[in-house]
Amino acid sequence: MLTKPEIDDRIIVQEHFAQEHLPSALSEEEVEAYTQRIQTLLKEKDAVLVAHYYTDPMVQALAEKTGGFVSDSLEMARFGARHPASTLIVAGVRFMGETAKILSPEKRILMPTLEATCSLDLGCPVQEFSAFCDAHPDHEVVVYANTSAAVKARADWVVTSSIALQVVEHLSDQGKKIIWAPDKHLGSYVQKQTGADMLLWDGACIVHEEFKAKGLRDLKQVYPDAGILVHPESPEAVIELADAVGSTSQLIRAAKELPNEMFIVATDRGIFYKMQQAAPEKTFIEAPTGGSGATCRSCAHCPWMAMNGLENIAAALEQGRDEVTVDPELIEKARLPLQRMLDFQAG
Ligand code: 13P
Ligand code: SF4
Repeated sequence: MLTKPEIDDRIIVQEHFAQEHLPSALSEEEVEAYTQRIQTLLKEKDAVLVAHYYTDPMVQALAEKTGGFVSDSLEMARFGARHPASTLIVAGVRFMGETAKILSPEKRILMPTLEATCSLDLGCPVQEFSAFCDAHPDHEVVVYANTSAAVKARADWVVTSSIALQVVEHLSDQGKKIIWAPDKHLGSYVQKQTGADMLLWDGACIVHEEFKAKGLRDLKQVYPDAGILVHPESPEAVIELADAVGSTSQLIRAAKELPNEMFIVATDRGIFYKMQQAAPEKTFIEAPTGGSGATCRSCAHCPWMAMNGLENIAAALEQGRDEVTVDPELIEKARLPLQRMLDFQAG
Protein backbone atom coordinates (compact mmCIF):
# COMPACT_ATOMS: atom_id res chain seq x y z
CA MET A 1 0.00 0.00 0.00
CA LEU A 2 1.21 3.55 -0.66
CA THR A 3 2.42 5.31 2.46
CA LYS A 4 0.68 8.51 3.58
CA PRO A 5 3.62 10.72 2.46
CA GLU A 6 3.54 9.06 -0.98
CA ILE A 7 -0.17 9.75 -1.31
CA ASP A 8 0.37 13.33 -0.13
CA ASP A 9 3.10 13.77 -2.76
CA ARG A 10 0.79 12.59 -5.51
CA ILE A 11 -1.88 14.95 -4.34
CA ILE A 12 0.50 17.92 -4.25
CA VAL A 13 1.57 17.18 -7.82
CA GLN A 14 -2.02 16.88 -8.96
CA GLU A 15 -2.95 20.12 -7.24
CA HIS A 16 -0.12 21.84 -9.02
CA PHE A 17 -1.37 20.38 -12.25
CA ALA A 18 -4.89 21.59 -11.54
CA GLN A 19 -3.66 25.15 -10.98
CA GLU A 20 -2.01 25.27 -14.38
CA HIS A 21 -5.09 24.06 -16.17
CA LEU A 22 -7.71 26.24 -14.55
CA PRO A 23 -10.00 27.70 -17.19
CA SER A 24 -9.31 31.42 -17.56
CA ALA A 25 -11.75 34.15 -16.48
CA LEU A 26 -13.99 35.14 -19.37
CA SER A 27 -15.76 38.41 -20.16
CA GLU A 28 -19.54 38.47 -20.57
CA GLU A 29 -19.20 38.66 -24.35
CA GLU A 30 -16.86 35.66 -24.37
CA VAL A 31 -19.26 33.65 -22.21
CA GLU A 32 -22.07 34.44 -24.64
CA ALA A 33 -19.93 33.52 -27.66
CA TYR A 34 -18.81 30.23 -26.07
CA THR A 35 -22.38 29.40 -25.08
CA GLN A 36 -23.61 29.83 -28.63
CA ARG A 37 -20.70 27.87 -30.07
CA ILE A 38 -21.21 24.99 -27.63
CA GLN A 39 -24.96 24.97 -28.28
CA THR A 40 -24.28 24.51 -32.01
CA LEU A 41 -21.60 21.88 -31.39
CA LEU A 42 -23.86 19.87 -29.09
CA LYS A 43 -26.46 19.65 -31.87
CA GLU A 44 -23.92 18.89 -34.58
CA LYS A 45 -22.28 16.13 -32.56
CA ASP A 46 -25.50 14.65 -31.14
CA ALA A 47 -24.15 15.36 -27.66
CA VAL A 48 -25.52 16.32 -24.26
CA LEU A 49 -23.75 18.03 -21.36
CA VAL A 50 -23.97 16.48 -17.88
CA ALA A 51 -22.45 18.52 -15.04
CA HIS A 52 -21.83 17.96 -11.34
CA TYR A 53 -23.06 20.44 -8.70
CA TYR A 54 -19.44 21.36 -7.86
CA THR A 55 -18.56 22.68 -11.31
CA ASP A 56 -18.42 26.39 -12.07
CA PRO A 57 -21.91 28.00 -12.10
CA MET A 58 -21.25 28.94 -15.73
CA VAL A 59 -20.91 25.27 -16.64
CA GLN A 60 -24.03 24.34 -14.67
CA ALA A 61 -26.02 27.12 -16.34
CA LEU A 62 -24.84 25.92 -19.75
CA ALA A 63 -25.95 22.35 -19.02
CA GLU A 64 -29.39 23.62 -18.02
CA LYS A 65 -29.69 25.93 -21.01
CA THR A 66 -28.77 23.22 -23.54
CA GLY A 67 -31.14 20.48 -22.35
CA GLY A 68 -28.43 18.76 -20.32
CA PHE A 69 -28.44 17.94 -16.63
CA VAL A 70 -26.87 19.10 -13.35
CA SER A 71 -26.88 16.67 -10.44
CA ASP A 72 -25.02 14.50 -7.97
CA SER A 73 -22.82 11.65 -9.11
CA LEU A 74 -25.57 9.01 -8.91
CA GLU A 75 -28.09 10.96 -10.97
CA MET A 76 -25.40 11.98 -13.49
CA ALA A 77 -24.79 8.29 -14.15
CA ARG A 78 -28.49 7.53 -14.47
CA PHE A 79 -29.22 10.49 -16.74
CA GLY A 80 -26.29 9.67 -19.06
CA ALA A 81 -27.40 6.06 -19.44
CA ARG A 82 -31.02 7.03 -20.21
CA HIS A 83 -30.40 9.93 -22.59
CA PRO A 84 -30.55 9.08 -26.32
CA ALA A 85 -27.55 11.26 -27.36
CA SER A 86 -24.65 9.26 -28.80
CA THR A 87 -22.05 11.50 -27.10
CA LEU A 88 -22.03 12.54 -23.46
CA ILE A 89 -19.81 15.35 -22.31
CA VAL A 90 -19.23 14.88 -18.61
CA ALA A 91 -18.19 17.97 -16.66
CA GLY A 92 -16.95 16.70 -13.35
CA VAL A 93 -14.06 14.46 -12.41
CA ARG A 94 -12.65 11.40 -14.09
CA PHE A 95 -14.49 8.71 -12.15
CA MET A 96 -17.77 10.28 -13.33
CA GLY A 97 -16.66 9.98 -16.97
CA GLU A 98 -15.59 6.38 -16.38
CA THR A 99 -18.89 5.53 -14.71
CA ALA A 100 -20.72 6.96 -17.73
CA LYS A 101 -18.59 4.80 -20.05
CA ILE A 102 -19.17 1.67 -17.96
CA LEU A 103 -22.93 2.17 -18.02
CA SER A 104 -23.06 3.25 -21.70
CA PRO A 105 -20.12 1.56 -23.45
CA GLU A 106 -21.66 2.20 -26.86
CA LYS A 107 -21.57 5.98 -26.32
CA ARG A 108 -18.68 8.32 -26.85
CA ILE A 109 -17.82 9.94 -23.52
CA LEU A 110 -15.87 13.19 -23.62
CA MET A 111 -14.62 15.26 -20.70
CA PRO A 112 -13.46 18.89 -20.68
CA THR A 113 -10.19 17.46 -19.35
CA LEU A 114 -9.15 13.95 -18.40
CA GLU A 115 -6.75 15.45 -15.87
CA ALA A 116 -9.61 16.24 -13.49
CA THR A 117 -9.25 13.51 -10.88
CA CYS A 118 -10.16 13.06 -7.20
CA SER A 119 -8.03 12.55 -4.08
CA LEU A 120 -10.16 9.54 -3.09
CA ASP A 121 -9.50 7.85 -6.42
CA LEU A 122 -5.77 8.67 -6.21
CA GLY A 123 -5.54 7.35 -2.68
CA CYS A 124 -6.93 3.91 -3.56
CA PRO A 125 -4.64 2.19 -6.08
CA VAL A 126 -6.09 -1.07 -7.35
CA GLN A 127 -3.19 -3.40 -6.48
CA GLU A 128 -3.04 -2.35 -2.84
CA PHE A 129 -6.79 -2.35 -2.58
CA SER A 130 -7.07 -5.80 -4.12
CA ALA A 131 -4.51 -7.16 -1.65
CA PHE A 132 -6.53 -5.63 1.20
CA CYS A 133 -9.68 -7.37 -0.09
CA ASP A 134 -7.81 -10.67 -0.54
CA ALA A 135 -6.72 -10.48 3.09
CA HIS A 136 -10.37 -10.35 4.20
CA PRO A 137 -12.20 -12.80 1.93
CA ASP A 138 -15.20 -13.11 4.25
CA HIS A 139 -16.11 -9.41 3.72
CA GLU A 140 -18.48 -7.91 1.15
CA VAL A 141 -16.60 -5.21 -0.76
CA VAL A 142 -18.42 -1.87 -0.98
CA VAL A 143 -16.68 0.99 -2.77
CA TYR A 144 -17.64 4.59 -3.15
CA ALA A 145 -18.22 5.79 -6.73
CA ASN A 146 -15.15 8.06 -6.34
CA THR A 147 -12.81 5.26 -7.47
CA SER A 148 -11.19 3.99 -10.67
CA ALA A 149 -12.92 1.50 -12.95
CA ALA A 150 -10.38 -1.11 -11.80
CA VAL A 151 -11.29 -0.65 -8.13
CA LYS A 152 -14.98 -0.83 -9.00
CA ALA A 153 -14.28 -4.06 -10.88
CA ARG A 154 -12.89 -5.54 -7.62
CA ALA A 155 -16.03 -4.62 -5.67
CA ASP A 156 -19.32 -6.34 -4.92
CA TRP A 157 -21.14 -3.02 -4.64
CA VAL A 158 -20.58 0.55 -5.77
CA VAL A 159 -22.40 3.26 -3.83
CA THR A 160 -22.59 7.05 -3.91
CA SER A 161 -23.13 9.17 -0.82
CA SER A 162 -26.85 9.42 -1.54
CA ILE A 163 -27.40 5.67 -1.24
CA ALA A 164 -24.53 4.45 0.96
CA LEU A 165 -26.54 4.24 4.18
CA GLN A 166 -29.33 2.17 2.65
CA VAL A 167 -27.01 -0.29 0.91
CA VAL A 168 -24.85 -0.85 3.99
CA GLU A 169 -27.93 -1.23 6.19
CA HIS A 170 -29.29 -3.80 3.74
CA LEU A 171 -26.02 -5.79 3.81
CA SER A 172 -25.68 -5.50 7.56
CA ASP A 173 -29.24 -6.82 8.03
CA GLN A 174 -28.09 -9.92 6.13
CA GLY A 175 -25.29 -10.34 8.68
CA LYS A 176 -22.56 -9.40 6.18
CA LYS A 177 -19.21 -7.93 7.19
CA ILE A 178 -18.09 -5.07 4.97
CA ILE A 179 -14.90 -3.65 3.49
CA TRP A 180 -15.48 0.04 2.82
CA ALA A 181 -13.29 2.21 0.58
CA PRO A 182 -11.92 4.73 0.07
CA ASP A 183 -13.34 7.58 2.23
CA LYS A 184 -12.72 6.97 5.92
CA HIS A 185 -14.93 9.85 7.09
CA LEU A 186 -17.94 8.77 5.06
CA GLY A 187 -17.19 5.16 6.10
CA SER A 188 -17.16 5.96 9.78
CA TYR A 189 -20.34 8.03 9.44
CA VAL A 190 -22.07 5.09 7.72
CA GLN A 191 -20.72 2.71 10.37
CA LYS A 192 -22.11 4.87 13.19
CA GLN A 193 -25.50 5.26 11.56
CA THR A 194 -25.98 1.61 10.67
CA GLY A 195 -23.96 -0.23 13.33
CA ALA A 196 -22.51 -2.37 10.50
CA ASP A 197 -19.30 -4.37 10.93
CA MET A 198 -16.97 -2.39 8.63
CA LEU A 199 -13.28 -2.33 7.79
CA LEU A 200 -12.33 1.11 6.50
CA TRP A 201 -9.74 2.06 3.88
CA ASP A 202 -7.68 5.10 4.89
CA GLY A 203 -8.63 7.64 2.21
CA ALA A 204 -9.98 11.19 2.41
CA CYS A 205 -11.27 14.04 0.27
CA ILE A 206 -8.79 16.93 0.34
CA VAL A 207 -11.64 19.44 0.13
CA HIS A 208 -13.97 18.17 2.87
CA GLU A 209 -11.17 17.19 5.19
CA GLU A 210 -10.31 20.88 5.52
CA PHE A 211 -13.54 21.88 7.23
CA LYS A 212 -12.88 22.63 10.90
CA ALA A 213 -15.26 22.12 13.84
CA LYS A 214 -13.77 24.95 15.91
CA GLY A 215 -14.20 27.49 13.11
CA LEU A 216 -17.71 26.21 12.51
CA ARG A 217 -18.66 26.64 16.17
CA ASP A 218 -17.22 30.17 16.15
CA LEU A 219 -19.17 31.06 13.01
CA LYS A 220 -22.36 29.61 14.51
CA GLN A 221 -21.94 32.02 17.43
CA VAL A 222 -21.91 34.90 14.98
CA TYR A 223 -24.96 33.52 13.13
CA PRO A 224 -26.84 31.56 15.81
CA ASP A 225 -29.93 31.06 13.62
CA ALA A 226 -28.03 29.60 10.69
CA GLY A 227 -28.54 25.94 9.85
CA ILE A 228 -25.45 23.81 9.25
CA LEU A 229 -25.33 21.56 6.17
CA VAL A 230 -22.52 18.99 5.96
CA HIS A 231 -21.42 16.46 3.34
CA PRO A 232 -20.39 13.23 5.11
CA GLU A 233 -16.91 13.27 3.55
CA SER A 234 -16.18 15.84 6.29
CA PRO A 235 -14.48 14.91 9.59
CA GLU A 236 -16.65 13.48 12.36
CA ALA A 237 -16.35 16.58 14.58
CA VAL A 238 -17.83 18.68 11.74
CA ILE A 239 -20.61 16.17 11.04
CA GLU A 240 -21.58 16.29 14.73
CA LEU A 241 -22.46 19.98 14.40
CA ALA A 242 -24.74 19.48 11.40
CA ASP A 243 -28.48 20.12 11.15
CA ALA A 244 -28.47 18.01 7.98
CA VAL A 245 -25.88 15.53 6.72
CA GLY A 246 -26.15 14.15 3.21
CA SER A 247 -25.10 13.86 -0.40
CA THR A 248 -25.09 16.93 -2.57
CA SER A 249 -28.73 16.45 -3.66
CA GLN A 250 -29.83 15.76 -0.10
CA LEU A 251 -28.14 18.99 1.08
CA ILE A 252 -29.87 21.04 -1.64
CA ARG A 253 -33.19 19.56 -0.54
CA ALA A 254 -32.40 20.36 3.10
CA ALA A 255 -31.57 23.97 2.16
CA LYS A 256 -35.06 24.29 0.72
CA GLU A 257 -36.97 22.36 3.36
CA LEU A 258 -35.37 23.42 6.65
CA PRO A 259 -36.91 26.60 8.08
CA ASN A 260 -33.61 28.51 8.52
CA GLU A 261 -33.09 31.69 6.47
CA MET A 262 -29.32 31.21 6.44
CA PHE A 263 -27.04 28.20 6.08
CA ILE A 264 -23.39 27.48 6.75
CA VAL A 265 -22.41 24.90 4.16
CA ALA A 266 -19.60 22.36 4.57
CA THR A 267 -19.17 21.16 1.01
CA ASP A 268 -17.80 22.52 -2.26
CA ARG A 269 -19.08 26.04 -2.89
CA GLY A 270 -20.07 25.18 -6.47
CA ILE A 271 -23.25 23.82 -4.87
CA PHE A 272 -24.39 27.35 -3.96
CA TYR A 273 -25.61 27.81 -7.55
CA LYS A 274 -28.27 25.12 -7.14
CA MET A 275 -28.98 25.92 -3.48
CA GLN A 276 -29.73 29.50 -4.43
CA GLN A 277 -32.05 28.28 -7.21
CA ALA A 278 -33.84 25.95 -4.77
CA ALA A 279 -34.18 28.65 -2.08
CA PRO A 280 -33.69 32.07 -3.73
CA GLU A 281 -34.59 34.05 -0.61
CA LYS A 282 -32.06 32.29 1.64
CA THR A 283 -28.40 33.10 2.34
CA PHE A 284 -25.55 30.59 2.07
CA ILE A 285 -22.08 30.95 3.49
CA GLU A 286 -19.03 28.69 3.30
CA ALA A 287 -18.03 26.70 6.36
CA PRO A 288 -14.59 27.72 7.68
CA THR A 289 -11.57 25.72 6.60
CA GLY A 290 -8.22 26.84 8.15
CA GLY A 291 -8.14 27.75 11.88
CA SER A 292 -7.85 31.43 12.78
CA GLY A 293 -4.05 31.09 13.02
CA ALA A 294 -3.71 29.44 9.62
CA THR A 295 -1.72 31.30 7.00
CA CYS A 296 -3.03 29.14 4.18
CA ARG A 297 -6.78 28.63 3.89
CA SER A 298 -8.37 26.29 1.46
CA CYS A 299 -11.21 27.70 -0.59
CA ALA A 300 -13.85 24.98 -0.15
CA HIS A 301 -13.55 24.33 -3.85
CA CYS A 302 -12.33 21.11 -5.44
CA PRO A 303 -9.29 21.91 -7.61
CA TRP A 304 -10.21 19.19 -10.07
CA MET A 305 -13.86 20.22 -10.44
CA ALA A 306 -12.51 23.73 -11.10
CA MET A 307 -10.73 22.46 -14.22
CA ASN A 308 -14.04 22.29 -16.10
CA GLY A 309 -14.75 25.45 -18.11
CA LEU A 310 -16.45 26.68 -21.25
CA GLU A 311 -13.20 26.78 -23.23
CA ASN A 312 -12.30 23.14 -22.70
CA ILE A 313 -15.92 22.00 -23.19
CA ALA A 314 -15.88 23.67 -26.62
CA ALA A 315 -12.45 22.22 -27.44
CA ALA A 316 -13.47 18.69 -26.40
CA LEU A 317 -16.54 18.82 -28.64
CA GLU A 318 -14.73 20.43 -31.54
CA GLN A 319 -11.70 18.17 -31.52
CA GLY A 320 -13.22 15.03 -30.00
CA ARG A 321 -10.38 15.15 -27.49
CA ASP A 322 -10.24 13.94 -23.90
CA GLU A 323 -12.33 10.91 -24.69
CA VAL A 324 -12.81 8.47 -21.80
CA THR A 325 -11.77 4.93 -22.61
CA VAL A 326 -12.11 1.93 -20.31
CA ASP A 327 -10.78 -1.56 -21.02
CA PRO A 328 -13.78 -3.67 -22.20
CA GLU A 329 -12.92 -6.40 -19.68
CA LEU A 330 -13.03 -3.87 -16.86
CA ILE A 331 -16.32 -2.50 -18.19
CA GLU A 332 -17.85 -5.97 -17.92
CA LYS A 333 -16.63 -6.43 -14.36
CA ALA A 334 -17.27 -2.91 -13.05
CA ARG A 335 -20.77 -2.84 -14.51
CA LEU A 336 -22.04 -5.52 -12.12
CA PRO A 337 -21.53 -3.64 -8.82
CA LEU A 338 -22.71 -0.39 -10.43
CA GLN A 339 -25.82 -2.03 -11.82
CA ARG A 340 -26.44 -3.58 -8.41
CA MET A 341 -26.61 -0.09 -6.94
CA LEU A 342 -28.96 1.16 -9.68
CA ASP A 343 -31.23 -1.88 -9.31
CA PHE A 344 -31.22 -1.46 -5.53
CA GLN A 345 -32.24 2.17 -5.92
CA ALA A 346 -34.95 1.31 -8.42
CA GLY A 347 -36.25 -1.42 -6.10
P1 13P B 1 -22.09 13.30 -4.57
O1 13P B 1 -22.11 11.82 -4.80
O2 13P B 1 -22.87 13.72 -3.38
O3 13P B 1 -22.47 14.02 -5.81
O4 13P B 1 -20.61 13.71 -4.22
C1 13P B 1 -19.56 13.47 -5.09
C2 13P B 1 -18.33 14.07 -4.57
O5 13P B 1 -17.30 14.01 -5.20
C3 13P B 1 -18.37 14.69 -3.26
O6 13P B 1 -17.15 15.28 -2.98
FE1 SF4 C 1 -12.97 14.08 -4.97
FE2 SF4 C 1 -13.27 15.67 -2.91
FE3 SF4 C 1 -13.15 16.69 -5.36
FE4 SF4 C 1 -15.32 15.28 -4.56
S1 SF4 C 1 -14.62 17.24 -3.75
S2 SF4 C 1 -14.24 15.10 -6.50
S3 SF4 C 1 -14.36 13.77 -3.25
S4 SF4 C 1 -11.51 15.62 -4.27
